Amino acid sequence: MDKDEVVRILNEDFVDELEATMVYIRNTFLMNKCDPSQVTEAIGVDEMRHMWWLADLITKRGGKPTMEHKVLEFGGDDLKGMLEKQIAMETADIEKYKHQIETIGDPEVVGVLKHILDEEKRHRKEFRERLKKYG
Ligand SMILES: [Fe+2]
Ligand SMILES: [Fe+2]
Repeated sequence: MDKDEVVRILNEDFVDELEATMVYIRNTFLMNKCDPSQVTEAIGVDEMRHMWWLADLITKRGGKPTMEHKVLEFGGDDLKGMLEKQIAMETADIEKYKHQIETIGDPEVVGVLKHILDEEKRHRKEFRERLKKYG
């Protein structure tokens, strides 16, 4: 895999993290229970940190982070729908990062993606616990 391909993949990851950040911050304000709202806010901040780490990898490899995100889907306006959507987003990222860790040969990139993967697994666990409790 050449450097341009690595940058292209990292930019897809960057946009996924941007979308997660925006969805979680929006949902934070609409959740009608304090605990899941606070958890979603804190995890939204984690997703923004993931953006920073990925943007660092992208620019170090001569690329530019792209902000061209897709139409956002929030999971509706009820707590259950929002948590289910957030769990689905974490699951998609977990599967994606696992695959990338197996296929990208750049050790620095793989190290960062492993760290992000660990956090996405924790996020999904946190959201699942809230869905069980409040859903
Ligand atoms: Fe993330
Ligand atoms: Fe996450």
